[in-house]
Amino acid sequence: MKIQSDFLVIGSGIAGLSYALKIAELGTVAIVTKKEKAESNTNYAQGGIAAVVSSVDAFEHHINDTMKAGAYLCHRNIVEMVVKEGPERINELIDLGVQFTQNINGLDLGKEGGHSHHRIVHAADLTGKEIERALLAKISAHPNIKIYENHISIDLITEHHLFGAGKQSHDSIHCWGAYVLDVEKNVVKTFLASATLLATGGAGQVYLHTTNPPIATGDGVAMAYRAGASIANMEFIQFHPTTLYNSGSPSFLISEAVRGFGAILRNKRGEDFMKKYDPQGSLAPRDIVARAIDTELKRSGDECVYLDLKHLNSNSIMSHFPNIYERCLKFGIDITKDLVPVVPAAHYSCGGVITDENGSTSINGLFAVGEVSMTGLHGANRLASNSLLEAVVFSHRVVESIKKNRAKGNEIANSIPNWDDSGTINSEEWILISHNRKEIQQLMWDYVGIVRSNHRLERSQRRIKLILEEVKDFYKRTKVTEELIELRNLSCVADLIIRSALERKESRGLHYTTDYPFVDDINWLKDTIIT
Ligand code: FAD
Ligand code: SIN
Repeated sequence: MKIQSDFLVIGSGIAGLSYALKIAELGTVAIVTKKEKAESNTNYAQGGIAAVVSSVDAFEHHINDTMKAGAYLCHRNIVEMVVKEGPERINELIDLGVQFTQNINGLDLGKEGGHSHHRIVHAADLTGKEIERALLAKISAHPNIKIYENHISIDLITEHHLFGAGKQSHDSIHCWGAYVLDVEKNVVKTFLASATLLATGGAGQVYLHTTNPPIATGDGVAMAYRAGASIANMEFIQFHPTTLYNSGSPSFLISEAVRGFGAILRNKRGEDFMKKYDPQGSLAPRDIVARAIDTELKRSGDECVYLDLKHLNSNSIMSHFPNIYERCLKFGIDITKDLVPVVPAAHYSCGGVITDENGSTSINGLFAVGEVSMTGLHGANRLASNSLLEAVVFSHRVVESIKKNRAKGNEIANSIPNWDDSGTINSEEWILISHNRKEIQQLMWDYVGIVRSNHRLERSQRRIKLILEEVKDFYKRTKVTEELIELRNLSCVADLIIRSALERKESRGLHYTTDYPFVDDINWLKDTIIT
């Protein structure tokens, strides 16, 4: 079955939805999303969006904080652009109906690790949910936009599907849409469009412990990589320092805004240990805090450290963090009175599909925005709350560039074939899928986590090669299912992370390896690119 629209959007988080609303001025839009439409990393965002909206703050401060957190690997031109365009995009969200928390002076501004000023615009501790609500309300009323829920994209449609592998040169690939599995009807549909936006979010599910919901399986990076796009900086996986210990899967996040509000990290002996590691103490950037916690736990053999809010006003805690307060109560923890046990978990992928300043990838007609992309903003470690900001700035820029350059859209080839699964069977061997998924998550957690070494990375590479072969073989013989599509993507992304990590012969930002020191030399400032 062929479904044709002017624009195809894969993903319904902040990146996909904010783009869809704007591009719909130019034509029809199909949004495919693999679960229910609000299910996304965006929906769970707590802290907020960073932007310079206070008169005591300045663009220069936000730029410097971003560069420093990113261990100076950030592309300065992109950082400047994103920071300067931020306030206008926040105003647009407000105009769209997003209700950010106010105080008597206007927008209430939170603070998070690595920020020199209060600049986090938020909706209590449920910022992402409020943004999704407002964007989806506008989308559902828009005559040009149709959302297809429970539709999981399998692969991008490129020359490969017309002429077979190896028949096109690497720099002239075109994207004409995607093959998408309608999970409820169990049929693969051909979605065609002259411009396709990848807005598939992150890959936290590649790790055993993650804050990311089950949708975050790196599908966009894997699809783009298979289609021939350039990928960069996959070694920079951000581990959030504070998730509630033993809170299940996904790990429940205790927002960094809680530390911005004055909470202090303590070890079992009650020590404010972060002071030993960084002058910013509990509010140091995430890479430093996560590594410090890892060191403390390895040294002591303890299973968690603690967040201490007991010295803070309990009414203020409950009004600023109602969601965190309620969730912790369900685990028997009153955050106003008890120490909160926390551990790090995989949280954010700083690398992804390389784009230019207008969200264009190396494939014609394919754009990427949000966590799936590598724009140059985050460098070796994303500054807190810069992700939602990046998504709204870049989705706007993609629309502006398409408006200026409509000719860039691809003519849709008449000869695009429908999905062909002849020769495949419905397999009964589902244990292979669940076993391989768990194996990937465990090996990435054990060998490619907060602290790495050549020995561990090489070991993980040997394991992942075997898994890749098994999955490839299974995929060739079997009718696609959601689980198989995700497993194929998880194994691809795990391999990309390991290869990137092995290529970086230094410690920088989130990539810490015991075999190489931190290097303070600008000649080493190189992205790790895989094509
Ligand atoms: P997402 O919001 O993840 O959306 C991806 C969409 O793509 C989903 O709809 C998904 O179903 C769909 N999808 C994926 N694969 C496919 C496929 N194959 N086919 C079809 N659809 C697909 N960042 C901040 O800046 N501030 C914060 O306060 C903050 N808090 C966070 C708290 C948590 C718990 C988490 C997990 C992340 C947080 N982040 C925060 C990070 C931020 O939320 C994400 O980076 C951002 O929301 C990503 O937006 P996105 O639109 O790129 O992707
Ligand atoms: C948080 O609220 O701590 C998450 C913020 C982010 O990931 O940017």
